[in-house]
Amino acid sequence: MNYPFWNIPHLGSGWVIGIMAIFHVVISQFAVGGGLYLPMAERKALRMTDPALRSAWLKQLASHSKFFLILTGVFGTVTGVGIWFAIGLTHPEATSTLIHNFVFGWAMEWVFFILELTTVAVYYYTWNRIDEELHLKVGWCYAGFSAATLIIINGILAFMLTPGSTWLAVAGTGQEASKFWNAFFNPTYWPSLLMRVGVCTSLAGVWALITSSRMDGDKEPALKASMVKWSVKWLVPSFVATPFLLVWYLFMVPASQRALLTLGIDTINSGTFSTVTRMALIIVITSATIIGVAYFLAYRNPVDFNLSHALAVLLLAYIATGAGEYSREMLRKPYVIGNWMYSNGVRVPYAKRINTEGYLVHSNWVWSKDGAPTTSYSRGEAIFRGECGSCHTLDGYRPLRQLLSGRDQASIRNMIVMLHDYKDDSPYKKFMPPMVGTQHDVDDLVNYLNAQVNPAPTSGQKPILTAQK
Ligand code: HEC
Repeated sequence: MNYPFWNIPHLGSGWVIGIMAIFHVVISQFAVGGGLYLPMAERKALRMTDPALRSAWLKQLASHSKFFLILTGVFGTVTGVGIWFAIGLTHPEATSTLIHNFVFGWAMEWVFFILELTTVAVYYYTWNRIDEELHLKVGWCYAGFSAATLIIINGILAFMLTPGSTWLAVAGTGQEASKFWNAFFNPTYWPSLLMRVGVCTSLAGVWALITSSRMDGDKEPALKASMVKWSVKWLVPSFVATPFLLVWYLFMVPASQRALLTLGIDTINSGTFSTVTRMALIIVITSATIIGVAYFLAYRNPVDFNLSHALAVLLLAYIATGAGEYSREMLRKPYVIGNWMYSNGVRVPYAKRINTEGYLVHSNWVWSKDGAPTTSYSRGEAIFRGECGSCHTLDGYRPLRQLLSGRDQASIRNMIVMLHDYKDDSPYKKFMPPMVGTQHDVDDLVNYLNAQVNPAPTSGQKPILTAQK
């Protein structure tokens, strides 16, 4: 471990990324879907023969595009930068790997991103100011650029789950960049891309439902009916295709990680099913409800479709998207980059070396400046933060004080030793990385955790070991 650890009590560092990502993913996927929605809707409007309806549609689209400009240009951008900030601080090792492998991927991403922001601004500000056909062309450019950002980022996101055997074969040799395209078009690239496109188009439909639900159905029934009905159609492709794509996707995920899902399904009768399975059920239930609301309330009854109906659909879509992203994160456990780097930044092939060298040897920031010896407690704390902190906190998210409560020191030790030995039959292997380090590191971590779970009645901690350097 070379980097200091950013400790976030209660919430845990993972959720800092998570909270930002929930907003960013929804906004950016909406931007991609909406990028397609706007020119498609504009083209449809331009071809309308009824002049009143035609101009009403165009007016509606102009205001819809303002909402877009602000949502993507402000909130999408800020959360995107926020994600970089958060991952750089919480997962420096993994962020570094992603930057090193995909330098040109990122460069392309940012170029398309700037083009996307520019064209959406031009698109919004040139309504009724330039020739209609030209305006539509700007819309198509916007659609193309925003789709390009998805096409690129998808390669990098899918890489983290399934880097693929070609890249893994050169990982750690310094030749990784030579396998750029293998890493990019990795095993889950296509199913993941198609699924995301489905999410994008349905989100575009959901947001369009929001703006169209606010139209006055009494004053402009024809406009509202045509717009609500057309927007509902945007939900259809993804709902039809997603189940098939999901199966394809899961099929491409290594069996060991897929086991997290089947573990839950096999044991569903006995009531113990894993988080991933629970999330999958949430996705199915919310999706089914969305279909119901969209068909019965919007498609069959467009004029009466109101904002609260639309917000309900949005909320459900939000839950479904969030659950999907959460499952993807869970599927990746115990890795941040499949089979190459554990969630806590330890590279898989380095585990052996760390077990002999010690976890903290390269962490110069742990040792005090004058070379004074550190205590077992402070080393244990550093090990806890570095090795466990990406998934656990002491008292908040996945709280270790609670998960370990009732155990005495010997029992905590058994648990840590089991994580350290990381035998094939260890129940923890499916979702936790090994605890790496020397016997001394194990002692330090046990002491630290024991001091949290079973605080000594008198003040001060009582480490078993004396300080070492
Ligand atoms: C990749 C993420 C991850 C890392 C890193 C991680 N854990 Fe966990 N751990 C989990 C998950 C997921 C669970 C299951 C949580 C639950 O049941 O709510 C868990 C459960 C536990 C439990 C409860 C086990 C039980 O049988 O009830 C303990 C104790 C624990 N972890 C300790 C640790 C320690 C100590 C470390 C650091 C050496 C660590 N974990 C690192 C993900 C992780």
